[in-house]
Amino acid sequence: MFSSIRTKLTVTYFILLVVVMVSASLFLLNLLKNYYFAYQYEAMVAAARVVRDLVAPKLQTTPDVVDISNQAELVARQSRSRILITDDRQRVLGDSVRVEGLVGTVLNRPEITHALLQQGDKSWSVQYSETSGFLVLQVAVPIEADGEILGAVFVSSSLQAIDELQNDIRTYLLLITLLAILTAGIIGRFLARKITGPIRSLSEATEKMAKGDLSQRVPVRSRDEIGRLTRQFNEMAAQLQENTRKLKEFVANASHEMRTPLTSLNILVKSMRDFPLEPEEREEFLDDIDQELERLIRLVENLLDLTRLDKLATEETMTVADVVPTIRQTLEMLQKKAKEKQIEFHSILPAQAAPVFAVLHQIKQVVFNLVDNAIKYTPAGGRVTVTLTQENDCLKLIVTDNGVGIPEEHREKVFERFYRVDKARSREQGGTGLGLAIVQEIVRNHGGRIWIEDGPDGKGSSFVVTIPRASLPAAE
Ligand SMILES: Nc1ncnc2c1ncn2[C@@H]1O[C@H](COP(=O)(O)OP(=O)(O)O)[C@@H](O)[C@H]1O
Ligand SMILES: [Mg+2]
Repeated sequence: MFSSIRTKLTVTYFILLVVVMVSASLFLLNLLKNYYFAYQYEAMVAAARVVRDLVAPKLQTTPDVVDISNQAELVARQSRSRILITDDRQRVLGDSVRVEGLVGTVLNRPEITHALLQQGDKSWSVQYSETSGFLVLQVAVPIEADGEILGAVFVSSSLQAIDELQNDIRTYLLLITLLAILTAGIIGRFLARKITGPIRSLSEATEKMAKGDLSQRVPVRSRDEIGRLTRQFNEMAAQLQENTRKLKEFVANASHEMRTPLTSLNILVKSMRDFPLEPEEREEFLDDIDQELERLIRLVENLLDLTRLDKLATEETMTVADVVPTIRQTLEMLQKKAKEKQIEFHSILPAQAAPVFAVLHQIKQVVFNLVDNAIKYTPAGGRVTVTLTQENDCLKLIVTDNGVGIPEEHREKVFERFYRVDKARSREQGGTGLGLAIVQEIVRNHGGRIWIEDGPDGKGSSFVVTIPRASLPAAE
């Protein structure tokens, strides 16, 4: 029953309204009753006092019951009540009701007894009258002359008016409550539809996305939380679509990259099997096979590196370390390669550097890939220089060569997976097109930046990497 927001809202509204209306009604009715009661009491006491003042002198002599009853009747008519006058032994001396009045009888009412004893706070009462079917208020006031109690005035009046008023108000409140519930129901439905409409669109879109259709977008119709949710959903959907596109592209590219060496291998192996070969030829074929296999292995290794880097960098334990020894070690590995290609190789490293948060084998990979590229894309006789400097907040690694350089328009793209400026040259050098993608990923994971500048004297290129310095708590 409570499974939709609409019912929940409507039921909540309903409960809220009923609670508010009922408690407000009870409060209002009670207030009115008290007010009316106090008013009536005051009026009756006032009437009793008027009668008291009128009849007090008459009680000092032998009382004339007709005269006294006349006085009582006069005031009673105005105050819509019954008024009786008794002497100090509660014998009735006057009654505003003339026919079948109580004159001559003893009126044994506790209110009168209390009044005669001058106990003002007890000389009134509220009782239910069987005959009229209403509540009746009774008040008695003593008659006094020269410090002597001569008798009492007894006033009684029905509270019928308040009962009627209460009933009227109750009816009105009921009507108002019904009207309010109706209005709330309509507003609630309208509001609920406004809220649940976009949610339903979102849930439908999500369902379609789960089934593989990533093109889902939901129109944003408001600027509230739901509008924000919708916008975030659309952004997420777009991001997901883009990621999926990139992933497909990556798989396609990777497969394509593998196909070339695999095709070569296929041809080489078939030829070896189908044609009788001289021993030198055999050697040549085996060399070729070896080369293609190595290219494949490198490719797969690079792909594995990338997938590992895709996982959160935090999975690798970063240590606070001086990277200089790691860089020095890596450069030593590359020295031979530079020498073979007759490239002048320099490094300008400080003896030690400020500590950084780093995964050392990844730093090694960065240096290796950048210097390896510099050597590969610089012709014999060229020069490669590696410099490490300390800036205020970071370490700066610069790998400079005076080789073929990278034209401005390629400088962003070379960091993309499989992107090469010159495909043939890269292939001939045994490149996979993944080196810079790996480097960029690592640098990002370290919170650093990488960019390409012109090489010295406008020739070749300079790769600049920054890694933020670790700010140790106690360091100063
Ligand atoms: N030092 C450099 N000088 C000139 N071109 C470079 C240099 N480094 C990288 N490149 C270009 O960027 C491309 C991508 O580099 P990389 O990702 O390392 O792939 P690979 O070296 O396997 O081709 C290279 O193919 C090359 O065109
Ligand atoms: Mg490379």
